[in-house]
Amino acid sequence: GQTGSPVLGLGAPAGLAAFVVSPASRLVPPGWAHAGRVDPGHPVQLTFALRQRGTARLARLVEAVSDPQSPQYGQYLSLEQVRDLVQPSPATLMTVLKWLQGYGVEDCRTVTTLDFLECHLPASMAERLLPGAEFHRYVQGQRSLVRSPQPYSVPAELAEHLDFVGGMYRFPTERKAVSRAGARKDPQPARASFHLGVTPAVLRQRYNMTGGDVGLLPNNSQACAQFLEQYFHQADLAEFMQLFGSGFAHRTQVDRVVGHQGHGKAGLEASLDVEYIMSTGANVSTWVFSNAGRHESQEPFLAWLLLLSNMSALPWVHSVSYGDDEDSLSYAYMERVNTEFMKAAARGLTILFASGDEGAGCRRVHSGNHTFRPSFPASSPYVTTVGGTSFKNPFLVTEEVTDYISGGGFSNVFPMPKYQAAAVGRFLSSASKLPPSSYYNSSGRAYPDLAALSDNYWVVTNRIPLPWVSGTSVRTSSPAALWDGGGPGLRVVIQGCHLSCLDGTVQGQGFCATPAWDPVTGWGTPNFPRLLRALGPR
Ligand SMILES: *[C@@H]1O[C@H](CO)[C@@H](O)[C@H](O)[C@H]1NC(C)=O
Ligand SMILES: *[C@@H]1O[C@H](CO)[C@@H](O)[C@H](O)[C@H]1NC(C)=O
Ligand SMILES: *[C@@H]1O[C@H](CO)[C@@H](O)[C@H](O)[C@H]1NC(C)=O
Ligand SMILES: *[C@@H]1O[C@H](CO)[C@@H](O)[C@H](O)[C@H]1NC(C)=O
Ligand SMILES: *[C@@H]1O[C@H](CO)[C@@H](O)[C@H](O)[C@H]1NC(C)=O
Ligand SMILES: *[C@@H]1O[C@H](CO)[C@@H](O)[C@H](O)[C@H]1NC(C)=O
Repeated sequence: GQTGSPVLGLGAPAGLAAFVVSPASRLVPPGWAHAGRVDPGHPVQLTFALRQRGTARLARLVEAVSDPQSPQYGQYLSLEQVRDLVQPSPATLMTVLKWLQGYGVEDCRTVTTLDFLECHLPASMAERLLPGAEFHRYVQGQRSLVRSPQPYSVPAELAEHLDFVGGMYRFPTERKAVSRAGARKDPQPARASFHLGVTPAVLRQRYNMTGGDVGLLPNNSQACAQFLEQYFHQADLAEFMQLFGSGFAHRTQVDRVVGHQGHGKAGLEASLDVEYIMSTGANVSTWVFSNAGRHESQEPFLAWLLLLSNMSALPWVHSVSYGDDEDSLSYAYMERVNTEFMKAAARGLTILFASGDEGAGCRRVHSGNHTFRPSFPASSPYVTTVGGTSFKNPFLVTEEVTDYISGGGFSNVFPMPKYQAAAVGRFLSSASKLPPSSYYNSSGRAYPDLAALSDNYWVVTNRIPLPWVSGTSVRTSSPAALWDGGGPGLRVVIQGCHLSCLDGTVQGQGFCATPAWDPVTGWGTPNFPRLLRALGPR
């Protein structure tokens, strides 16, 4: 289960009261091989999440600036104003710095909001600082990570000043951009709008975007973030636009790459993300956050969160590829990451996460029974979560049905925000085939918020156009505005279910789409002109 509060550490040195910032699960994921303990002098990078102040005020502020009914709607804060609200108390800063200095930790950098410290130190020093920790190397193919499989502890007097220490035990999660060509039904071509897979033109037709629906103002901006060691190539983007970019004004260059871009082969995921954000958000300045060439003990997702708190000028919209099972993360970690999303929402940033690739998910609980498995950050109430759909007929621009792998459900950590209650209540009381209530927590944040096509995309990668690429990443500060008045500008998806536990009770079926909000496709897929009217200036 979730470790809500710190528990007493067993590995602490005698006489030193300590608490363990313990992960819920420390299992090394399949596919990673242990390659021994690192040398004492091996450099590691640790991220200290310092206890913030003002988080309750921040939550109220986010609600006010995100709610179209509020007089404060759209009155976003600057990064410096966010800092004034959340920065740790002088006592917290003093205590943590004194502790680090006491162990000789000196190579540390902070962020504008002063609530993170990123430090570089030798493994042996980190092991003395955090009793219990032991740094080992893990390898998977070409990739190599340094992590501590053992729980760590910190002195009791630090407990009230630290949320967690990052760079210790979380492994990167895989995300699959897969070809599902084998699962296709027989082609049923028809004359009307026959197509051989999703391209920018197909998306624009389906979501009612004309050639003139492109970014018009120089201050429009967007970004995608990648946390695998993946690169995109400008040459692929240019070729993609040459093949698929006619009929709408667009750019062929990414304006800024934050982080390192490696030189190896392009990744399918990275190519997909960049090509589709720039052809749907066409003629809009685009940044890519890239983590290639990262430090072995870095957690790329954490590094991205730190960047958000350290850059005052950022794109307005961020599409992010990352997800983990809620039950594999500690409560303290998720709460803190959720607060980071609140900080972003207060600044007017919209953060979109894919809802996941495993339907409702499945996990065995202590009793031996199954339960669905929510995914984080998809389950955070401060991000907009996007589910996936497919065309009912894969060769026609017709109705969409659910993509059976599309993630969705209810958080076990974050309570349901007020703006969801009515729509979710209607779903729960009217759905005809609900799974038993022991499989999900109907008091939690319900996701996704909306959906988009996630199947059969054309992607150019390493100069080669590839068809049939799938993955739910293909797809307003906090999602509140989207729920206002019942998902205006979204077209509901009525047909299909997503997958879940393969057991006798639910037989592989999670939730099913309904004619209003549902936990597979949210409010449905965009109808651009109506969405624009609903979210635009009022
Ligand atoms: C944050 O930005 C400042 C100024 O650019 C820089 O000196 C500092 O190292 C950055 N912090 C981190 C953690 O990278
Ligand atoms: C959107 O597209 C549909 C079908 O192509 C069409 O019926 C509708 O009039 C279009 N416009 C709006 C604003 O919905
Ligand atoms: C593209 O965006 C720029 C501002 O960034 C604008 O000046 C230009 O008119 C736009 N192009 C089209 C075809 O709308
Ligand atoms: C974007 O630019 C327009 C025109 O220059 C301006 O009216 C608007 O306030 C700007 N929006 C933001 C969010 O900076
Ligand atoms: C496990 O599931 C069975 C069948 O759904 C149910 O009868 C039983 O009470 C469950 N056990 C627990 C401990 O929840
Ligand atoms: C259900 O979700 C709530 C948050 O809404 C949480 O407090 C509670 O612990 C969850 N229950 C279970 C069994 O996980």
